[in-house]
Amino acid sequence: MTFRHKLLPLAAASLCVGLFASLAFAEKPVPHDPYAGLDRMNGYSIKEFADFTSKWTFITVRYRKDTGEMRLTYANDSAWRTLKEGNIDYPDGAMFAKIGLMTADDPGFVSSLVPSGAKRYQLMVMDRAKNKDTDGWGYAVFDANGTTFGDDPIEKQNACHACHKMVPERGYVFSQPVKLNMGLPMKLKINSKDDEPTKTLTSRLKFETTKLDGLPEKLVKELPAGATQIRVLRGELEKTNFQGTFGEIRPSLAMESLKSDLPAALVSENKRFFSLAFKDPGKPACEMPNGKKGVKMKVVYVEVQRGEKKNKDIIENLSYCDALSD
Ligand code: HEC
Repeated sequence: MTFRHKLLPLAAASLCVGLFASLAFAEKPVPHDPYAGLDRMNGYSIKEFADFTSKWTFITVRYRKDTGEMRLTYANDSAWRTLKEGNIDYPDGAMFAKIGLMTADDPGFVSSLVPSGAKRYQLMVMDRAKNKDTDGWGYAVFDANGTTFGDDPIEKQNACHACHKMVPERGYVFSQPVKLNMGLPMKLKINSKDDEPTKTLTSRLKFETTKLDGLPEKLVKELPAGATQIRVLRGELEKTNFQGTFGEIRPSLAMESLKSDLPAALVSENKRFFSLAFKDPGKPACEMPNGKKGVKMKVVYVEVQRGEKKNKDIIENLSYCDALSD
């Protein structure tokens, strides 16, 4: 290594130290992620479409019951035309955008939750020549300021698509238009070539019952006392994933756990990341917001850190009331 090459990383490091100067005395600087804080991911920027909520067509709204996050999905003209026609061959330039909103009590009147700020923006852009490995779809995800979170963008794009690949008969697009007019609930028209609306998403997820040996030590530690078996999600998502995969999959894990009466988990192939869901053994019964009886679920997400951040594992614990399965 030449002297000049030795200096380069030093210069980069001092830039980061400069940014975190006040912290530098207390702690070692956090390694700087060159992919974080950028306006573009894989060449796409949400800032270019900042007015998508007024210019594009609203498709649907979804609600994450475990995190209280609300999602609104929009399609640009070309994506909307395709979706509306029941077609799945999205032309180049077709785009979907999704905004994830946090919710909070309205201090003025607490009967319903109100949006309390954007959490993230996600984009899907059809470009067959550019995105050959992901069936033409390019993916990008941004924080509330429209800048990237970090991590290698291609790896992340592959992880996005690994999940979207579950719905090939919809052209890899989950959202279906929902008409918010009188007469709800209406029957959803599922776009598909082979028209298989009965094949639910959960039936596409393949779980396997296993013993606890071979599972990460940290996962076994989180399990309720006495557990000897667990349902583990198998397939593409074990291999191709990112942090978001483990959040997105939690409701499916909870559903599987309720159905099987065993804890359910997704564990990354390298065993560094996992999400786990099981019935809270202490307090199983609870009341849903609609007054119906539910089950108290516990969900845990763990990210085992390495190197500098060793022993600073990220552990998220969440407890919420889920509907009893029929
Ligand atoms: C584990 C599964 C999973 C992963 C991983 C995932 N998504 Fe999705 N995505 C969904 C589901 C399910 C929906 C339907 C809407 C909802 O539930 O919020 C969706 C909806 C979307 C939409 C709206 C269009 C559509 O397909 O409905 C966009 C845009 C999107 N995701 C982008 C991304 C990006 C970008 C990434 C990666 C950074 C990503 N997704 C990773 C499951 C996933």
